[in-house]
Amino acid sequence: MDMNSITGAAYIVAALLFILSLAGLSKHESAKNGLTFGIVGMAVALVATVASTIDVSEYVDGRALVIVLMLAAIAVGAAIGIWRAKIVEMTGMPELIAMLHSFVGLAAVAIGWNGHILGSHDSMPSLINIHEAEVAIGIFIGAVTFTGSIVANLKLSAKMKSAPLMLPGKNFINIGSLVLFAVLTAVYVAMDTHDSTGATLLLAVITLLALALGWHLVASIGGGDMPVVVSMLNSYSGWAAAASGFLLGNDLLIVTGALVGSSGAYLSYIMCKAMNRSFISVIAGGFGIEAGPADDKDYGEHREIQAEAAAELLAGASSVVITPGYGMAVAQAQYPVADLTAKLRAKGVDVRFGIHPVAGRLPGHMNVLLAEAKVPYDIVLEMDEINDDFPETDVVLVIGANDTVNPAASEDPTSPIAGMPVLEVWNAKDVIVFKRSMAAGYAGVQNPLFFRDNSQMLFGDAKDRVEDIVRALD
Ligand code: TAP
Repeated sequence: MDMNSITGAAYIVAALLFILSLAGLSKHESAKNGLTFGIVGMAVALVATVASTIDVSEYVDGRALVIVLMLAAIAVGAAIGIWRAKIVEMTGMPELIAMLHSFVGLAAVAIGWNGHILGSHDSMPSLINIHEAEVAIGIFIGAVTFTGSIVANLKLSAKMKSAPLMLPGKNFINIGSLVLFAVLTAVYVAMDTHDSTGATLLLAVITLLALALGWHLVASIGGGDMPVVVSMLNSYSGWAAAASGFLLGNDLLIVTGALVGSSGAYLSYIMCKAMNRSFISVIAGGFGIEAGPADDKDYGEHREIQAEAAAELLAGASSVVITPGYGMAVAQAQYPVADLTAKLRAKGVDVRFGIHPVAGRLPGHMNVLLAEAKVPYDIVLEMDEINDDFPETDVVLVIGANDTVNPAASEDPTSPIAGMPVLEVWNAKDVIVFKRSMAAGYAGVQNPLFFRDNSQMLFGDAKDRVEDIVRALD
């Protein structure tokens, strides 16, 4: 068997393993197996690609150097990857993922430019310059993914404001950029790109246009829609990889890119449906969303409660619902929350959890934290399963959640988060909100819940305050 056949066979095995990986990752129970399939598939793909590259005869003279360079690149990349994965906090996962997407975009841009510099090796004459089209499209998708992911990283790590950038005529900017890209690409494809400075300059303009568009698309999306943006960039990174696959003539990269691209697009679609958002609007950089009036409403005064009084309220309750959010992750309050749950249940109080689909900063964030602290699965309910039960609930503990319990989403049509389904905690008899200040949540929107007659604020770090309550219950 020659090297080509071995590589082809290895690629089919790797592609099947990637499909099994995606299937496994779709359920909690099979997620670990899904990860294993993905790791093995990637190892097979890497070994096959490296082996086939070494085998290419044109490299015979400098083969040793090629091998050394490739192994060095793999070693450096693997070392950085392992280091980042080891030190990342659970709360920092989404920004790490956004950063990794930006690398895929950057790689696609580099591969595209490499394709431009080397030119087409295709000996078959073709009517249209397919190679040039692949170069321009690959660079465009890669550059949009690159800067879009950098903005997502900055927004998720709070180094950039999460509020949407509202440039005048922002829809025109987005659509105009796409039209301009189509025109410039058509000119580039029609040109003789060999040794042409004009073609190189044109490609540089296409690259800059795509970099600016990627930045603008993601900067225009508000904090509440960031979960969809992350999965959308995941999808873009897949299409960027697929485009590189066409350029490099690598079938596995095309298949893998298409798998990531289509599954990411479908995930974005499901998330948009769950969040009551328009899919087209989000992928088009908040198309059709205009800035609402500034929120200068006077919501009145908020009330405060101390840990001892909260403990008394809880001890006298028969049903309690806990709705955790990003602040529980920041405070690492899941362990005292689990202790509090156990203590209340031992006193005969019915305690359940209500989990919003985008609570925290990554899908399933709260479920992972609660599972880590050994909170029983059967009392952890999804938003849809618990929302109707709030009117019969005595006390709701809102632990570090804000946007996901904001009544403005359902009551104020001008709110930036209007229409987003939320946990309707305000329907309970008493609500205690654990947070450190009156600051807004991730979407930057004021929360009228804090000023309701049945709400009381318990200020301070969520972990410290929950521990205070656990002590007061002893
Ligand atoms: P957020 O709206 O982010 O609010 C979290 C609250 O926790 C803040 O208001 C903060 O108030 C409080 N907090 C922070 N540290 C705390 C600590 N140590 N102790 C006590 N409180 C603390 O939370 P959420 O309700 O979970 O909503 C999630 C938001 O993130 C949504 O807008 C969602 O769209 C967005 N998002 C989600 C995802 C995914 S996939 N889940 C991804 C990206 C973005 P103080 O500063 O006053 O303490």
